[in-house]
Amino acid sequence: MSTVREIFETMEYGPAPEAPDLALGWLKKHQNRFHPFIGGRFKDALNAQTFASTNPRNGKPIATVTQCGQAEVDAAVAAAAAAFPQWSALSGHIRSRYLYAIARQIQKHSRLFAVLETLDNGKPIRESRDIDIPLVVRHFYHHAGWAQLLVDEFPGYEPIGVCGQIIPWNFPLLMLAWKIAPALAAGNTVVLKPAEFTSLTALLFAEVLQQIHLPAGVVNIITGDGSTGELLVKHPEIQKLAFTGSTEVGRIIRQATAGTGKKLSLELGGKSAFIVFDDADLDSVVEGVVDAIWFNQGQVCCAGSRLLVQEGIAQRLEQKLRVRMESLRVGDPLDKAIDIGAIVAPIQLQRIEKLVEEGKAEGATCWQPSWAVPQEGYFYPPTLFTNVEPAAQIAQVEIFGPVLVSMTFRTPSEAIELANNTVYGLAASIWTENVNLALDVAPKLKAGVVWVNSTNVFDAASGFGGYRESGFGREGGKEGMYEYLVPSWEGHVNAGLSDDAKPENADSTVRSVELIPGPSADSGVDSSGTGIDRSPKLYIGGKQVRPDSGYSFAIKDGSGNYCGEVGLGNRKDIRNAVEAAHKAASWSRATAHLRAQILYYLAENLATRAEEFADRLAVSPGHSREQAEREVTKSIERLFYYAAWADKYDGQVHPVPFRNITLAMPEPWGTLGIVCPAESPLLSFISLVAPAFALGNRLVVVPSWRYPLVITDFYQVLDTSDVPGGVINLVTGDPNELGRVLAQHDDVAALWCVGAKALSEDIERDSSGNVKSTWVNFGKGRDWFDDRQAQGREYLRRATQIKNIWVPYGE
Ligand code: NAI
Repeated sequence: MSTVREIFETMEYGPAPEAPDLALGWLKKHQNRFHPFIGGRFKDALNAQTFASTNPRNGKPIATVTQCGQAEVDAAVAAAAAAFPQWSALSGHIRSRYLYAIARQIQKHSRLFAVLETLDNGKPIRESRDIDIPLVVRHFYHHAGWAQLLVDEFPGYEPIGVCGQIIPWNFPLLMLAWKIAPALAAGNTVVLKPAEFTSLTALLFAEVLQQIHLPAGVVNIITGDGSTGELLVKHPEIQKLAFTGSTEVGRIIRQATAGTGKKLSLELGGKSAFIVFDDADLDSVVEGVVDAIWFNQGQVCCAGSRLLVQEGIAQRLEQKLRVRMESLRVGDPLDKAIDIGAIVAPIQLQRIEKLVEEGKAEGATCWQPSWAVPQEGYFYPPTLFTNVEPAAQIAQVEIFGPVLVSMTFRTPSEAIELANNTVYGLAASIWTENVNLALDVAPKLKAGVVWVNSTNVFDAASGFGGYRESGFGREGGKEGMYEYLVPSWEGHVNAGLSDDAKPENADSTVRSVELIPGPSADSGVDSSGTGIDRSPKLYIGGKQVRPDSGYSFAIKDGSGNYCGEVGLGNRKDIRNAVEAAHKAASWSRATAHLRAQILYYLAENLATRAEEFADRLAVSPGHSREQAEREVTKSIERLFYYAAWADKYDGQVHPVPFRNITLAMPEPWGTLGIVCPAESPLLSFISLVAPAFALGNRLVVVPSWRYPLVITDFYQVLDTSDVPGGVINLVTGDPNELGRVLAQHDDVAALWCVGAKALSEDIERDSSGNVKSTWVNFGKGRDWFDDRQAQGREYLRRATQIKNIWVPYGE
């Protein structure tokens, strides 16, 4: 037996296992066999296929679970659809009480939930007990509040319908809570599929729903692998899909849902930067790294997996890290003194091993502690790579294991460049004692969450979600609620539009444009009637430029008579316009006051030339002189409206239950593409461009294909209103072609399109490459004169994405 002195010297301590009896008893009660939860009951498998759920600690099966097929998916969706009318009609207060009851019940059974989660997933009990389950409970309490406040806080919005939700295995119950709580609070019903490795806590959760008497069908749980997920994605009665998992599957889902009208939110992979400046408190940094990359075995989408250290302190920090890594404990996840548990499954372990071998082969230096991990079960030691090239595979690919790669930088701007040198953009953390530096760097990082002197902290009041290929949409906070609501006006669009004005008709007509060879400026056609040739070109980088094709296309008036021609833009012109928008990046940092001033100036200059614009519009298809005047007047009013908003659409400070200021900042996307509809050519253009411009985006716009002359006239208004070159770029031409080019372009961060139905589908499919956020209309018209449909917060919300910055306070 060791002496006290020896114990103090080695700091060795014996096992402190959490008893598994409660969870094993629950498994036994079900004879270790689990069925899907449909319509409020566990349904005996219609489908005889099953699969085993194993304990990663030892690889032994602990339960047999149904592999749901078409019949179960159909039954679950039907149950959710049947439950929707009643559930959505309940008062917010009643829904709130159900959510509150769920929170209470989970809290009551938290030990059972925690142990079961650890048995099924392999995560340390310390984490499931102290992090996962408390956050789950907090999420349901918080969203009980949103249900109560729905009418007050989301006027003009309504629930979507049946939501399909697909979650991963790294935080099984927590991801369930992140999905189900907001969906129910908003009045939707749900079919959720847990990951195949970790179905059990979702099924225990279903029992909780029975205990609190949640109406049958409001929540349905179907178990199975990716093929079950695919059936859910494709089900025609699903109106909203929420997915967390790999970017690869996220892309597949984006493509599979393209054009279906299903609302989508994606929370995908990450390769988050952990930035350490040379004035940081290095001991805190070391503990921060432990939480960043060894929390949950590194199987965390926002894991701080790229350590970026200022050069002067790199060696010292790496040495401290090696010492700390040597003392980490890997082993039985049910042991309360364990730091790192088991990897979820052999396939994930193999993925990690393969990537580590590739890192070594690429020439990086790999360091692991001297001790060995247990042989039984799926364990992997904490690993540190140094000497890593920024372009190396291990610096770019999400490893999803306890593997940290370290790189150095010299200056803050180099740190920002390195941090942003990734296709992902989920999270980042900044370590410095200089709050000015931290708050200067945070907005420059392309990431949805930025933690200052902290990492991997979460709360239901604060939104979570990514930039770029980390997906779109937010979970948590007010911003997360919008993912489960739709503006009520969306159900009323298309009304009042003549058939001719319906965007569905756009694609057939636009393909029959009359092409006129030769650069438009030299065509010799006097379209103005003034004797001066005014055939307009494209507007890129603040200048008129000839279209690459050298072609222009003829524009006809309402009676089919020739009334002018404009340049026919192509792929190359869009690329040039995106480049110009990219170069105009300083616009996104301009003050809101300046943006408002320019919008007022645009309105003023348009007002000065109102007669001229009305004349132009009066000859466009479907326009009387009176309508034309109305359209100009309304356009001026709308410019004023967004000038008013520019310095008022501000963020929030979320009240999270820590000593923390959590700033929710709406940030512009960067380069935003806009495809305008054929109808109301001036007003629809202003209605889409003004909000995006007001909030700091740089725009590449495809104006109305049918009557772009009013927009090409607008070039002069832009020129005389101090709009910086490159902030608004206009490429006239076929929206069906140009919209797709915008969708495929990696430097376009988001894309709005009001156009033909087929184009919505193309855009959603083509945008899956860089997982762009898109806002399309599925061929439905909008009444641009109706303020409820054509202006408001929804436009402003769509023009931004929320970044949450966590700033702790106190010593
Ligand atoms: P995955 O993306 O395949 O699985 C996530 C969920 O999607 C599971 O429920 C799965 O059954 C389902 N799924 C798989 N294929 C589907 C399809 N075609 N249609 C609909 N649903 C489908 O992730 P996987 O294979 O478990 O892990 C692979 C890698 O993905 C990891 O190494 C990690 O890099 C990343 N990952 C990221 C997560 C995150 O939180 N961002 C979570 C899990 C994995």
